[in-house]
Amino acid sequence: MRLDKLLANSGIGSRKEVKKIVKAGAVSIDGKQAKDVKTHVDPSEHEVTVYGEPIEYREFIYLMMNKPQGVLSATEDSRQKTVIDLLAPDDMRFEPFPAGRLDKDTVGLLLLTNDGQLAHRLLSPKKHVPKTYEVHLRSGLSEEDIANLESGVFIEGGYKTKPAKVETIANSEEHTEIRLTITEGKYHQVKQMAKAVENEVIFLKRLSMGSLLLDPSLEPGEYRELTEEELNGLNDTQT
Ligand code: URA
Repeated sequence: MRLDKLLANSGIGSRKEVKKIVKAGAVSIDGKQAKDVKTHVDPSEHEVTVYGEPIEYREFIYLMMNKPQGVLSATEDSRQKTVIDLLAPDDMRFEPFPAGRLDKDTVGLLLLTNDGQLAHRLLSPKKHVPKTYEVHLRSGLSEEDIANLESGVFIEGGYKTKPAKVETIANSEEHTEIRLTITEGKYHQVKQMAKAVENEVIFLKRLSMGSLLLDPSLEPGEYRELTEEELNGLNDTQT
């Protein structure tokens, strides 16, 4: 990895700032003054110091966000706000991306990481990672609707959804709320499933993804790092 990236990722400063620090002669690699920010260093092999202090290098970041409504699950957009815009600069420098997408109007659990391998394993259709959503529907669900949602319904492209689990929280014309667990992630899947039983999603919140549960103390737009236990749980279920 380039020295400037390593230093920036370690919180020493922006790429521009670390260039100045290197130029000033404050950075050493294995005791030898570094001259060029483009120098390649392997943090597991070389000791990099800044003003004589060894840097603490960290490669990956894992953040759990309670995604708010009206924000895109993307890394950048020329016009609209993205979940990355909600991060503190100190977290942004790791260049995390959302592991999976939630629609603009969907709220809830979103994992942001720069660990491509973990994201890939979580999102791979082969892994069947369960995702549970709190779903509020426009109208009531019949027993038949529930049975159909659970056994599979036809959505766009004639695709039949895989078996799902429905837990009824409330079921009346005034308020219909279910917890729906699916093991795949087709485009607008929950909304399409509701449509397939002639209903409509009016509120959607992701509550969990594999072993990872949304921390209920996170307000919309807030986020925190995963605990070691949460991260181990994700790694364990996905290998
Ligand atoms: N299903 C949807 O329809 N939207 C989401 O954001 C997530 C799952």
